[in-house]
Amino acid sequence: MCPHRAHELFPEGAGKAKNVITCPYHAWSFGLDGKLIHVRNAENVPGFCKDNAGLSPVRVEEFCGLIFVNLDMDARPLAELAAGLNDEIRARCPDVDKLVPARKLTYEMKANWKVVVDNYLECLHCQTAHPALVESIRMETYKHEVRGIYTSQVGQTRSGSDAFTYDSDAPNTDFAAYWLWPNVTLNVLPGDGNYGVFYMFPVDADTTVQHFEFYFRDATPTAEQEQLIDYYKNVLKPEDLSIVESVQRGLKSRGYRNGQGPLLVTDDRTSAIGEHGVQHFQQMVLDALAA
Ligand code: FES
Ligand SMILES: [Fe+2]
Repeated sequence: MCPHRAHELFPEGAGKAKNVITCPYHAWSFGLDGKLIHVRNAENVPGFCKDNAGLSPVRVEEFCGLIFVNLDMDARPLAELAAGLNDEIRARCPDVDKLVPARKLTYEMKANWKVVVDNYLECLHCQTAHPALVESIRMETYKHEVRGIYTSQVGQTRSGSDAFTYDSDAPNTDFAAYWLWPNVTLNVLPGDGNYGVFYMFPVDADTTVQHFEFYFRDATPTAEQEQLIDYYKNVLKPEDLSIVESVQRGLKSRGYRNGQGPLLVTDDRTSAIGEHGVQHFQQMVLDALAA
């Protein structure tokens, strides 16, 4: 937003600035470095100092092939908080920096964002809700590990299944799904440079907007990549959408009077069907609220 009277500098929400950013309200203009360049009538204001009226700096960090923006200038770097995640993503997707946006799907859901994250953080429901997914992944290899502010869910896949088709010499043949606190998931899907960045924005307590962004080597997906997108769009997303919206209605029922039932937190051997990820996330939410 503009430091003058707070009009948004890019009300349309996206796009590319040229050399100058001009506020649509009173045309204060700023360089791309954030410095205030021109203010109409400033020369008639005694003591007006352009140096103190530039754009607020924000923290940016390159991580896992993406640029993260943080308005908290004192935040600790993600590279430190989620040590290991960057290396894991790059090991599975060595050319992550070269990928380009290829497809974006956006959904509005009648569910709280935390219900959507809970759903991502366990595959206990995969057997009942996602029959094609459990056929496409060798579920006996599926492991779900919690590592501080991120988790990893990794399983070997079957090429030629409903969800995935790829060359056997592709750099990554696993389904590798990482959640990063609080609302981002990074998904390295089988194939060469198939990266899905899925994230949830809370709109209000009962509504979440979820974006699915697919990054590939080329902006035009291959036939195999179209199959992958179709699987997410037409199978997996509708399956999870009906779950999270049902849970949101159920949470409001007076019948759910004792709060949550026991979570299935087991040992590592059954991490594929455990709810330790959900427990971990819910504890992080409680800690954040108490802080
Ligand atoms: S609010 Fe931006 S120029 Fe006035
Ligand atoms: Fe699911």
